[in-house]
Amino acid sequence: MNDDRWLLNWLDEINNAATNATVLELGCGRGRDTKFLSTHGFQVVALDCRRESLYRCSHVRNALPVQADLATNLPFADHAFGAILASLSLHYFSWSITQSIMAEIKRVLDRRGMLLIRVNSTEDTNYGAGQGPQFEENYYRVGTQTKRFFDEASVHDLLSEFDLQAVQHQTIDRYGKDKNVWEAMAYQV
Ligand SMILES: C[S@@+](CC[C@H](N)C(=O)[O-])C[C@H]1O[C@@H](n2cnc3c(N)ncnc32)[C@H](O)[C@@H]1O
Repeated sequence: MNDDRWLLNWLDEINNAATNATVLELGCGRGRDTKFLSTHGFQVVALDCRRESLYRCSHVRNALPVQADLATNLPFADHAFGAILASLSLHYFSWSITQSIMAEIKRVLDRRGMLLIRVNSTEDTNYGAGQGPQFEENYYRVGTQTKRFFDEASVHDLLSEFDLQAVQHQTIDRYGKDKNVWEAMAYQV
């Protein structure tokens, strides 16, 4: 599947949920989704820990770059966002840090706000699943990084404090190779 337009399937839900047409994007990376959302009329608060990523996002119209570490408290007020996107950015952490990140997401998500995520699948063997030194179940050293890979049960665990609406296994194209991910959407409860 061409990955550039995956958000197209979620535009109606994002539209309905995004307060003031603003989306918080966690781990904006090269800004592909930031650009897509901007093109579709949203303002994007684009968070990343890397200055290089933020530099790219700062060139996107209607994007506000924020440098922050997901593993610490998010620099936003309670219930500040109606829509939060985290695509392939929640998988670098130990399970306890992952849980505190989810608690922070819950804190800044508005009532009935929408959370849309993509996470690495345990079938993502092209990108390190099941390989290298293991620190926790499905959590490995891959090159210079640590990466978590999710099975369906752990996606449900991850979103256990939310009202889960959809979970789907997808194979997407990343840098010319198949990448296996879980795509999930949930509402604040
Ligand atoms: C694989 S990229 C995904 C980028 C984009 N969301 C996408 O789907 O193409 C992961 C992004 O998460 C960011 N990231 C990794 N650890 C982070 C942390 N602790 N705090 C904030 N961002 C982090 C990386 O800098 C990178 O831009």
